[in-house]
Amino acid sequence: MYVLGIETSCDETSAAVVKDGRKILSNVVSSSLKFHKKYGGVVPEIASRLCLETISFVTDDALGQAGVSLKDIGLVSVTSGPGLLGSLLVGVSFAKSLYLALGVPLLGVDHIQSHVYANFLNGRPIKLPFIALVVSGGHTSLFFVEDFGRIRTLGETQDDACGEAFDKVAKILGLGYPGGPLIEKLARSGNPKKIRFRCSETGRELDFSFSGIKTAVLYAVRGRRLTLQEKRDIAASFQESAIGALIRKAHLACRLKRTPRLVIGGGVVANSRLRERFYAESKKAGIDCYFPASDLCTDNAAMVAGFGHALFKRGQRSGLYLTAGAG
Ligand code: KG4
Ligand code: ZN
Repeated sequence: MYVLGIETSCDETSAAVVKDGRKILSNVVSSSLKFHKKYGGVVPEIASRLCLETISFVTDDALGQAGVSLKDIGLVSVTSGPGLLGSLLVGVSFAKSLYLALGVPLLGVDHIQSHVYANFLNGRPIKLPFIALVVSGGHTSLFFVEDFGRIRTLGETQDDACGEAFDKVAKILGLGYPGGPLIEKLARSGNPKKIRFRCSETGRELDFSFSGIKTAVLYAVRGRRLTLQEKRDIAASFQESAIGALIRKAHLACRLKRTPRLVIGGGVVANSRLRERFYAESKKAGIDCYFPASDLCTDNAAMVAGFGHALFKRGQRSGLYLTAGAG
C-alpha cells in the first residue's frame, strides 16, 4: 500500500510516499528556517504562511519522485499534533481536502510518536516491546511501546525540552539558531569536565528538567567576556551533562520495565556525541540501542506515513472531524 504522509508541525513542510510502512519512495522537506534565523527562533506566523505557500508543490514533488499519482494512494497520514497550531492547520486541512476529493482513507497521527517510527523505515526489524525516547526541540518524552497502537507515556519534560535548552544555551553563547548543531560543533574542541553543570532533579523519576541547567549556563556567562576556548568548554560541559541525564533516565526506564531495547528519535538525536555515548553506555548496560538515519531524525513526512500505516493496519481511522491540536 502507498501512503502519502504530510508533516507541517513547525517550520518544515514535508510530504512523502512510503510503501507498506517501510520503504521510502520519496521524502521531500522544505524548511522555512532561513526566514526565522534573524529572530533567533521560529516565528509561528511566518512558519504557517510558508507551509501554506509550499504544501501543494512539496506534495506534487513527493508524488513525482515516487513515480505514483494521487489515484495510487491508499491512505493519507497527517500530523495532527502537537506543534504550532497555524502550521498544523495547513497540513490537516490539506489532508482533509484530499480525503474529500479522492475518498482516500485519512488518519491524523501524533508527531512525537512518529519520531519513534523513524527507526522502522528502511531499517532492521526491532522486537516489541521497547522503551522509546524522543528528544526534539519541543519535547523530551519516554514511552513504553507494547505495540504501535499501545504506547504509554512514562515521563516527559517538566519545563524546557532538551533541544530547546540546546537552542537557548547557543543563544546565551551568541552562536545563532538552531543551536543544537552549533553547540555540537563548538563542543568538539571543548573540555566537558571543565564546569560541572547538572540537570535538576524531578518529582517523578522518569520526568526531565532542562530549565535549571540552561539558567546555570546563563549565570556562568553573565557579565563576562568569554574567550573562544571558554565558550567551547561551556558548550562541551553543558552537552555532556544533558546527554548524561537522557541516558540515566532512559536506562532507568529500561530497568523498571525490564525491557532491554531502547529506540531513540527526534532532532537532537542527530548529535553524534549523543549517539556515541548512548551506544557505548547501553552496550555496557546490556541494552540494545537503535537510532534512525540522521536525515530521519529531524521533522519529515516519511515517519508520519510509516506510523500512519502501522496504525491503519490496527484499524485506526480519522474523518472530516479531524482537528489540529497544539498539544
Ligand atoms: O525534531 P525536530 O526536528 O523538531 C521538533 O519536533 O522540535 O528537532 C529540532 C531540535 C532543535 O532544537 C535543534 O537545535 C535540535 O533539534 N538539533 C540538535 C542537533 N540537530 C538538531 N541538537 C543537538 N545536536 C544536534 N546535532
Ligand atoms: Zn519533531
